Amino acid sequence: MNYETLKIDISDNVATVTLNRPEKKNAMSPQLHRDMTAALEELRYEDSAKVLVITGAGNAFCAGMDLKEFFHELKGVQSEYDKVFRLATEWRGRTLRYYPKPTIAMVNGYCFGGAFSIVEGCDLAVASDDAQFGLSEINFRMFPGGSVSKSLANLMRPRDALLYAMTGRRFNGTKAVDMGFINMSFPAAELEARTMELAREIASKDPAALRACKDGYRFSLEMSWEASMSYTAAKEQEVMVAQKGAWLESGIGDFVKGLYKPGLESHSDRK
Ligand code: COA
Repeated sequence: MNYETLKIDISDNVATVTLNRPEKKNAMSPQLHRDMTAALEELRYEDSAKVLVITGAGNAFCAGMDLKEFFHELKGVQSEYDKVFRLATEWRGRTLRYYPKPTIAMVNGYCFGGAFSIVEGCDLAVASDDAQFGLSEINFRMFPGGSVSKSLANLMRPRDALLYAMTGRRFNGTKAVDMGFINMSFPAAELEARTMELAREIASKDPAALRACKDGYRFSLEMSWEASMSYTAAKEQEVMVAQKGAWLESGIGDFVKGLYKPGLESHSDRK
């Protein structure tokens, strides 16, 4: 898996996708959007990658859209601008959100503007305590456009979203946890090890159940109660078919036989 702007490592069933333009603080250039689109497609079908971790090289997670290569250089090149904008919106807003495998954003440093949509598109997010988050658009006389406004609406509390969007003030990883924007933060030196621990824990669970877990949650957000009941009932059947009945046979079956306690541990063949 060779990409100009990404580095991909797979180990212990976890694929780490590193935005790899440290000299540009991993700003999302048109090439990075093309690479991410292709990499997510490739990893979708890579059996050794059961969970994805997205992070950045160097001291930045991602400095948002590449202000020079995207906004400045594509100004007036309408069809190319449109093409890149669509890719940029699609991989963060749709592909990640409905990705068939669990995804974790590991925010290791600067995280600005459009990078909020990567964090929000991932299922889980962790950061170093001292990571720097900022909705900097207002500082360059813009607002959080593209998919970012929707990302804020989806995940941030209203007062926080508007305070940070209207001031461009930065907040750190610890504050991002308080706000519920990310799950947890760690001292920088522990970030990678603690994230991998979490990723491996999730990778040990049943993949069909994980996929249904995401779909059940994400689609239910937009459904009535009745529609959600019907959808999740159908999803249960889908899981049953995908696993050839394993959750009933061994998941529940082994509990009934007294072989393990699912409240306290995962089924042994998933460890
Ligand atoms: N788009 C394009 N290039 C960017 C970039 C971005 N979003 N963010 C950083 N870079 C580039 C810088 O222009 C610089 O390039 P150069 O070496 O060719 O001059 C390089 O990355 C390193 O950045 P620099 O500003 O020297 O590092 P710093 O540590 O002093 O500051 C930032 C880092 C991220 C705080 C600062 O670069 C910045 O404010 N970037 C813009 C962030 C932003 O507003 N993002 C929202 C976009 S939606």
